[in-house]
Amino acid sequence: MDKDKQIIIGSDHAAFELKEKIKDLLTGLGYEVEDAGTHSTASVNYADFGKKVARAVSDGAFARGILLCGTGIGISMQANRFKGVRAALCSDIFSARMSRQHNDANILVMGGRMVGDILAFELVREWLATPFEGGRHLDRIRSLDEIG
Ligand code: RB5
Repeated sequence: MDKDKQIIIGSDHAAFELKEKIKDLLTGLGYEVEDAGTHSTASVNYADFGKKVARAVSDGAFARGILLCGTGIGISMQANRFKGVRAALCSDIFSARMSRQHNDANILVMGGRMVGDILAFELVREWLATPFEGGRHLDRIRSLDEIG
């Protein structure tokens, strides 16, 4: 299948239910979804799921991913430790759009305790539909991986 139509998703327990709903949305949009877990509401460490999804994006196995935890903060901190990962924590449509246009975000992060289902679905739709502008933003995103 076209890599542009494949996506990996992961969450901790705090956003498990939202993850399941977003999977349905993605499938309806024609995406093949890889679920990195978690698979229940039993308490887990968000970092484990952030690592799984971020590693897959960093390695190039997936071009895009979605991550969720209670606030989205811990799991985005984890994801952004991986080379080449540009994880954007979004709770408004403008940020979701700009994270693609200017930052070429390759992981969308949301807080399951922060956004309602309908807003989350709109954030996903906007994020998936918005292309990277390139141009002057290319050098800027490339420099993100220069540490120190
Ligand atoms: C879990 O209680 C919570 O700490 C986690 O989902 C997330 O919000 C961490 O940043």
